Amino acid sequence: MVSFAADSPREHLSLDTNWKFHLGDDWPNALRLDKAGESGGPAAEKFNDQGWRTLNLPHDWAIELPFDRNADTSHGFKPVGPGFPKNSIGWYRRTFELPKDDQGKRIGLQFDGVFRDSTVWVNGWLVGRHESGYYPFRHDLTDIVRFGGKNTLTVKVDASKFEGWFYEGAGIYRHVWLDKTAPVAIAPDGVFVSTDFKKNMPDGPARLQVKATVLNTQWNPTTVTVSCTCISPNGTPSGAGFTQEGEVEAAGTREFDLSKLISVPELWSPESPTLYKLVTTVEADGKMVDRQETAFGIRTVGFDKDKGFLLNGKPYVLKGTCNHQDMAGVGAALPDALQYFRVAKLKEFGCNAYRTSHNPPTPELLDACDHLGMIVMDESRLLGSDEENLRRWDTQILRDRNHPSVGIWSVANEEFVVQSTPQGGDVAHTMQDYVKRLDPLRPVTYAAPEGDSFAGINGVIEVRGWNYHVGPDMDKYHAKHPAQPNVGTEQASTVCTRGIYQNDKQRGYVSAYDDNAPDWATTTERWWSYFADRPWLSGGFVWTGFDYRGEPTPYAWPCINSHFGVLDTCGFPKDNFYYYQAWWTQRAMVHLLPHWTWPGKEGQEIDVRCFSNCDEVEAFLNGQSLGKQAMPRNSHVRWKVKYAPGTLLARGFKAGQVVAEDKVETTGAPSALKLSPDRPAIHADGEDVGVVTVAVVDAQGRFVPVADNLVRFELSGPGKILGVGNGDPSCHEPDTYIDQAPTRSVALDQWRMKGVPNPNARPEVAEEVKDGHWDLMDARAASGPLNPGQSAVFRTRFTAKAEDLTARSVMIVFGMIDDEGWVYVNGQLAGESHDWSSSPVFDIRKFLHSGENTIAVAVKNNEAQGGLNKGVTVQIAEKPTPPDWKRSVFNGLAQITLQSTSEPGELKLTAHADGVAPATLSVLTQPYPVKPTVP
Ligand code: GAL
Repeated sequence: MVSFAADSPREHLSLDTNWKFHLGDDWPNALRLDKAGESGGPAAEKFNDQGWRTLNLPHDWAIELPFDRNADTSHGFKPVGPGFPKNSIGWYRRTFELPKDDQGKRIGLQFDGVFRDSTVWVNGWLVGRHESGYYPFRHDLTDIVRFGGKNTLTVKVDASKFEGWFYEGAGIYRHVWLDKTAPVAIAPDGVFVSTDFKKNMPDGPARLQVKATVLNTQWNPTTVTVSCTCISPNGTPSGAGFTQEGEVEAAGTREFDLSKLISVPELWSPESPTLYKLVTTVEADGKMVDRQETAFGIRTVGFDKDKGFLLNGKPYVLKGTCNHQDMAGVGAALPDALQYFRVAKLKEFGCNAYRTSHNPPTPELLDACDHLGMIVMDESRLLGSDEENLRRWDTQILRDRNHPSVGIWSVANEEFVVQSTPQGGDVAHTMQDYVKRLDPLRPVTYAAPEGDSFAGINGVIEVRGWNYHVGPDMDKYHAKHPAQPNVGTEQASTVCTRGIYQNDKQRGYVSAYDDNAPDWATTTERWWSYFADRPWLSGGFVWTGFDYRGEPTPYAWPCINSHFGVLDTCGFPKDNFYYYQAWWTQRAMVHLLPHWTWPGKEGQEIDVRCFSNCDEVEAFLNGQSLGKQAMPRNSHVRWKVKYAPGTLLARGFKAGQVVAEDKVETTGAPSALKLSPDRPAIHADGEDVGVVTVAVVDAQGRFVPVADNLVRFELSGPGKILGVGNGDPSCHEPDTYIDQAPTRSVALDQWRMKGVPNPNARPEVAEEVKDGHWDLMDARAASGPLNPGQSAVFRTRFTAKAEDLTARSVMIVFGMIDDEGWVYVNGQLAGESHDWSSSPVFDIRKFLHSGENTIAVAVKNNEAQGGLNKGVTVQIAEKPTPPDWKRSVFNGLAQITLQSTSEPGELKLTAHADGVAPATLSVLTQPYPVKPTVP
């Protein structure tokens, strides 16, 4: 996390708000390579985007599309990508203003991630293309922007190709920034702060090492002074600052190396995520030209061949999960608050590590991991030592290496074809060397889906990663290569559906008992009990923490998301959550499964299981003991119980004392809805979100685990609904609804024309003029009827319906008015145009009356052929109908995500469902600074 202070010329401004968006490849020729600054279609500055939708980033258009059974299974059946050209190209436009006194500053545009293949133009200039959907990229705009005026930014996003085999979203799904800096400033990602200890053991003082790269964009060398101050976790500067002076060559960079001892460092760990701050300033000619703050943490990471992963010099078992980026309701476009929400959910079951499978993460995920405490395995998208891939890998390392949460780099995942070849080994070696050059203190692994095999990558990689292959292969490998440390990069892939206790292929559900895994994978208990007994394996990463869209293994349509999660797509726990909680946390707990609402199953045997970390557990049905059992380590206990409605209870004992309890009860019919927010108040910053759980309860207020009511939502107050979800892997209801504001187009034809000596103050433009004998002309022609110097009046009629007069807007859109034109509606001047190459647009609603209206255009042609050409249309933008937000609960639960505006106040959410009592909830939105944003 980097932030900036007001006393430096540096500004880091959000460009997330107020974009215009259009889906569809309507301008295949926008990219022009023949001339500079002359791009076509929406890339041209004067393009009119009034009819486009307005939205804020992050945005994922794939989530907005309906499911389609012909679309790609592993991407979650959304009709984007190969085979769906109509839905695969999106256009974004936004203007931004730069004050006149910014002249002289460098202006940088930064995208944190766009899926995918983006082309960026500013003011009609092509500024760059970037292919991968997962890496950040920057463009320097200094030369082409307009200071003291408006600038136009256009981004074409082409998601026609996939990069992964999982849901990837589509669009500008991460933040966009505008950076203003002095001509001499810290280079992008130019501060690297690391700390080391003697022998990598955090005893005694830590050496703080800062590498600060200063960029000089001027054509003369400049002498600068770089100074650093370290701010301790309690906010006080620790010790004196440290400084270095040196010359930076003309149009070049220089790295400054500064170092200092921190005598009593406070260590960062997932249990105690203590953060320091480094303030770096740059002075030139006695003036501060840059100041930047960098959050960092002091800790050591490493691997030991026998003890496994080491944090701060001590063995530390990685209790990790792999995760993709998407979530219920929002797809791949997560507001920052949801990163924190998700990391906090994972921590609830004792998870302390996060693998960013299979791509570089968004920076805010790393911020959440820094702040909440989570060790990150930071993974590249692809194996490759080609120039492009190494450049990407470089960017990833430079961007992420200050985050204390990042503990391990992963060069790639499951490169089946090349992994055991010598070439695969060499490529991985090169990527590993890159890490060692840029970030020498972090270990490197590769997620290998292989057993006892040392050929290729496994033979060169620092830490052997294990995707699956639990069993003797691991022991054999370890015996043969005892000097190589190991880690479980990807394990489990256990498939479960929340609240389901029987496999159901038809509906696409898998039982939540820990019984099902595909043939390459294992149950939860199998992998964890194996790893827990072998400290040298370091622990590992479960596939996955959260369910994600796509990969509906073991099923296909109608199933649209995965079943691998410990939590579902909303973050609601499945039963395995409690297995991990039992063995990954210390607090005494008991969890019983299944639920106890089985009408019709009276007298039948039910498989009752219990997860607990107590010594013994005793279960009771309606007060009658079912027997006490010793709890085997890293396992569970079970009873066969004849179903009778009532209460099933389990008590956990430690040293003979009851220390924990859980019960499941037979509930009555759904009787009411219940809304519970994750937080009672959120920030009124236009970004923060509240995540609300929707539950169905019976007359006694007990959660009904089999309820499937359809719930409708209404929200009032300063906020909006972002999305809804329910964790059902086969649910095809929309996750999001967009304001439907259809635009109707009416072509204006039947133009008549009369030549006039000049275009000004013409009587021919009045409302009532007899023009029946004028010449008919075709306004759709490519060029106009007038010769140089000629003028004419063109007239036609437009019939307005009564409802058009209350539309949002009624625009008249001219293909071309060549060269100059004055547009009259019912005799009143509605607008003028003096640029033949623009497609002028005027809002004419206020001049219209119901019935027949007169449209007249007086045109003067200066050069070549001219007139009215390329067609004229009227576009009526109807009032948006507020979306009818709804979602079914799945096994009793659904989720709704609310987002604040920048206005403080009270959000009132109401939920209704047929036949049950409604619920209301109030969430406060409290005053909070809005991110500095470009106007
Ligand atoms: C792994 C792969 C993951 C996911 C998983 C499903 O082999 O790395 O991306 O596909 O299988 O079990």
